[in-house]
Order: sequence, then structure tokens, then C-alpha cells
Amino acid sequence: MERDSLTRSKIIVLDLGSYGSHVVARQVRKLQVYSEIFPIMTPVEDVLAKGAQGVILTGRSGDPGSAIREAASRSAGELSAAGMPLLAVGSGLEWLVEELKGRGAEGPAISLPGGIESLAEPAGRQVLEDFVLNICRCQPTWTMESFIETSIQEIRAEVGRQPVVCGLSGGVDSTVAAALVHRAIGDQLTSIFVDHGFMRKYEAEKVIDIFRNRFGKGFIAVDAKERFFALVQGVTDPEEKRKRIGSEFIRVFEEEAAKLGEIQYLVQGTLYSDVVESGAGQGTLVKSHHNVGGLPEKMALKLLEPLRWLFKDEVRVVAQKLDLPDELIWRQPFPGPGLAVRIIGEITPEKVAILQEADYILREEIAQAGLERDIWQYFAVLTDTRTVGVQDQERNYGYMLGIRAVNSVDGMTASWVHLPYPVLERISSRIMGEIKDISRVVYDISSKPPATIEWE
Ligand code: XMP
Repeated sequence: MERDSLTRSKIIVLDLGSYGSHVVARQVRKLQVYSEIFPIMTPVEDVLAKGAQGVILTGRSGDPGSAIREAASRSAGELSAAGMPLLAVGSGLEWLVEELKGRGAEGPAISLPGGIESLAEPAGRQVLEDFVLNICRCQPTWTMESFIETSIQEIRAEVGRQPVVCGLSGGVDSTVAAALVHRAIGDQLTSIFVDHGFMRKYEAEKVIDIFRNRFGKGFIAVDAKERFFALVQGVTDPEEKRKRIGSEFIRVFEEEAAKLGEIQYLVQGTLYSDVVESGAGQGTLVKSHHNVGGLPEKMALKLLEPLRWLFKDEVRVVAQKLDLPDELIWRQPFPGPGLAVRIIGEITPEKVAILQEADYILREEIAQAGLERDIWQYFAVLTDTRTVGVQDQERNYGYMLGIRAVNSVDGMTASWVHLPYPVLERISSRIMGEIKDISRVVYDISSKPPATIEWE
């Protein structure tokens, strides 16, 4: 099966500057129709060249600004003149459809006035489904079974008999990427796990255990803790931390790969949301996720990114189909630089140890409350703010620790979780009771946007 047949039916989402475009794209994919996001400034001929059967314009309510308004009006007009069916999603976009109707549009043009939020309701989803399946006449060709089959063939065709390496972080994305490549080329793949020292308590050991079993001789674990600590010593700027850790990661891979002989390819678990968020879709860089933005320019290995078309929920389906253990499929997302971006300011081994303990208590209490599967991500953040407290009747000038719990579908937007007060109370009293260096615990009540999920 070729990729063409997998994405034969396709919808393009044109983003007028809203965080909701990926919600729309995911909903389309739930109908088993492939969808891709592009910024509204994309030239119409490029959009038409993609061969989509329909275009959805998404925007948030309120005035998008005159440049975007003009671009949207021009694109929609030209697309419609070419007979392209259009759906406008967003309470601020009715004007677009009115304008098109006024001009006597060629293709069908409708709007979903409730905006992105209305896709949470059956009625809103029905409008979308009608548009995709009836108006655009898309066929449901996008399934994870066919994605796996197609990817296996593509990977084999791309790498031939050449050896491949993969960096495993212990997260779902790199594990699924490795498992998929392993399914395609077996022992031609060597997977490398780099312990940078910023993993959660006991996590490195666990990850090593799982991968030894699965990949056997094709698995290498590297203890690089000292190297990474030296590298971030004295660094306080978040982007600098990310860049240094990201580049060092690649360097360690390259060194290991060099020991294996002539290697050409590096597998990475980059997802579609990383691609869009790193600027390919929207033209704005929020953070350099090490999967994409932090790569050193002069990398000697070619990239193999079999998941770069997938959203997180699709990756979990692929993981199930590849028989990966539940423990891994449901592991919460963990940033590549690990606890390094959850320690504000300078990183020291002592601070990592403090954060590991606090994070461990948090995880125990969330599990105890039976909330593990209900929360997308929950973690602790060690701030560099010290506050006065009292411990054993003595003044204690310890750190302030932040607790964060968010729900999200793919990490691009997130809302803070209303953890029950008794759970919060246990978390806070255990942390302050058991960890002397922490004198205050606060709960993060920020959603994304405008905050991001990680603090750095
Ligand atoms: P932010 O903080 O950007 O995070 O709202 C969105 C999601 O991405 C995870 N994250 C990363 N994942 N490498 C990764 O693979 C990274 O450098 C990285 N930084 C953040 C974050 O945990 C959240 O799930």
C-alpha cells in the first residue's frame, strides 16, 4: 500500500491564527480522513496542489487583524472559484461565508458558527462529518492499520540494508517510533537509551528493563549523567538548557553510532504537533522542542521520523497495534530534557534529587487516588524561589515547589485539572513533611494558552 492511497482523501485546515486548528484536524482524522494544517498565508496554488477534497478555515472569535482578514478573503475567494468546498469554523468567520455568497461562490461554502468549542458537541461534529463525508465526498482511508503497513514499506524502501539507530527517551513517541522501525527492519535497528540524569526516580532502571526485553541485543544504555550535568552547570536560560541538552543528545548518539560502524539514519519520535508547533504550520516558535528545533545544524545522520504525520492519540493506537505494554502506552508525556526544564534556574544534582523525591510523592498520591489515567500530565516543578517556613520548630528557608496537573488532547492546548482538595492536601503535607528542602507547595492554575505546560 502506498502513502497515496492512505491519504487519497484529504482535507486541508487553513489556520487564521487560532490554537484550535489542530482540534479540527484531529476531528477530521477521527472520521478516518487525513488532514493537514497550513497557515492562511499559504499561496492558494500550493493549497490546490495538495489535492485536497475540501478546505476548512479556522479562526478564533474577534477580529483577526486586517492582514489575516485580507489573506482569508483572497484565499477563500480563489479556492471557491476553483470549486473547492469550504467550511469556516469560528464564531468570527461568518463574514467570510457571507462575503463568498455575495460574490456568487462556485464551490459550496458553509460555516460552523459555534467555533472550535462546538466540535465538543454532537451537533457540531455532525456538521463537520457532513462536510467531510457528504459535501467533500472523502473516503475513510486513514486508519492506523494501513498507516503501519504503509510506514513499514516506506521505511524498508528508504533505508534498504543500511543500519539505523534510534534514541529512546522512555516516552511513548520514541518507543513507538523504534517499535515501528524494528517491525520494518528488525535487527538492522540499534536503539540507544541515554540516561542524562534528568529522569524521574527509578525511571531509567524501568526503561532499561523494558527495552532489554523487547530489543535484546539491539539495545544499548549509556550512562551520561556526569557529562550532562557538566554541560548545564551554571546555565539558567531555558532555551539555552534545551539547546545544550538537545545537541548533546545527538552528539552522544553519534558517538555510539560511530562505534557501530557506518550508520546513516537516526529514528526520532517527532509528532505532527511538534512539527506544527515548531513553526512549520504557524510560523511562530514557542519553545524549541528538542525533537525538532534543537538539532545541531551539522548532524551527520539522516532523520527517519515515522510519526511526523500523527497526533498523540493516533500514536497510542499505533502502540496498541504494535503490542506495546500498557504501562508504556499510558505513560505521561515527558519532555526530552526531562527534569532539567522543571528546575527553574541553575541545575545541580542536589536539586534533581529533591525534585525526584517530590515528583515521586506526587505520583504515588495521584495513583493512590485512582486518578492516573484521568490526567494527561502531572508533575512537580522546583522553583529557585526560597521562602520561609517552620520545620521541627525551627526556621526553614527552603524552596517553593510548584505542582502542575493538566488535561490535554495533544499537548497543544491544555486546561489545569481541578484536583480534589483532599488529594492536594495529602500531596502538600507529605512533600513538606518528607522533604526538608521544600518549605512551600503551590498549585499551578494556568491553562495553555497563555501558559505552556512545562514551566521552561
Ligand atoms: P509545552 O510546555 O510546550 O509542552 O506546552 C507541550 C507538551 O510537550 C512536552 N514537551 C516536550 N516533549 N521534547 C519533547 O519530546 C521536549 O523538549 C519537550 N518540551 C515539552 C510537554 O511535556 C507537554 O506534554
